[in-house]
Amino acid sequence: MSEFRLTQISDTHLGRRFPGLIANFHAVSEHIDANRPDLVVNTGDVSFDGPTSRDDVVFAKSLHDALPVACRYLPGNHDIGDNPTAIGPVPKPPVEETHRQQFRAVIGEDHWSFEAAGWSFIGLNALMMNSGLPFEAEQFDWLASEIARASGRPVALFLHKPVFLNEPGDPETPETSIRYVPQPARARLIEMLATTDLRLIASGHVHQRRDFTYRHTRHVWAPSAGFKINDARQDRIALKEVGLVEYRFQPDSLEVRHVRAAGQVDVDIEELFAQMGGAH
Ligand SMILES: [Fe+2]
Ligand SMILES: [Fe+2]
Repeated sequence: MSEFRLTQISDTHLGRRFPGLIANFHAVSEHIDANRPDLVVNTGDVSFDGPTSRDDVVFAKSLHDALPVACRYLPGNHDIGDNPTAIGPVPKPPVEETHRQQFRAVIGEDHWSFEAAGWSFIGLNALMMNSGLPFEAEQFDWLASEIARASGRPVALFLHKPVFLNEPGDPETPETSIRYVPQPARARLIEMLATTDLRLIASGHVHQRRDFTYRHTRHVWAPSAGFKINDARQDRIALKEVGLVEYRFQPDSLEVRHVRAAGQVDVDIEELFAQMGGAH
């Protein structure tokens, strides 16, 4: 195959009680149906609240199953819980192996790799990093073997959280490790990837659309397909809108298109809180 077309969606946060998010997913589905990429990747927060509601995960999967193309998934903090950080308070809820197993049972593999159009594609479970759970070490071992197998091919990495803000050590304050791959796992990940021809890191989680290049690697932050977070609740780093990202991979080249599906609406997080009965 000389060309591979991949559509990234992220942060769909699906649950039966959120009609605005369901409507946005249907708009995205119609767009995907019309464009028929080779693969759809959801980079996490597939469901609204996996740790407390298995039904959210089941419902989210059922909507993806209706898509007319193959899908791969990566977990987000709303699917399996969040990373413990080296410093700062324990996240609520923290990542747990039982949540990861629920994700695998209902949705599918939480880390994966494949090759297409001369590229190596690697999907990582970002939430297990710094957890100290057995799977954290297992995944790093697996990553080492995937890196060895890539043997010089360009690499595209997918994961829920951006690896860093603007450069590898940035930022180091504890509160921001909620947003990025936390230290010290981040440094280890970057060191391992430094031996590869890493061309792309595609992430979600922040609900802001961003696209920048640091040295050799393009960093694409996919926006949420479902909702945005207003400035009163979250600082503005890049573009706050809902949408998706389309990629076209060819041997040694990559095209990125930032897209909004027809009918996608910029649902604000306050609307969701209202639908939850104001309990937050
Ligand atoms: Fe999210
Ligand atoms: Fe997230």
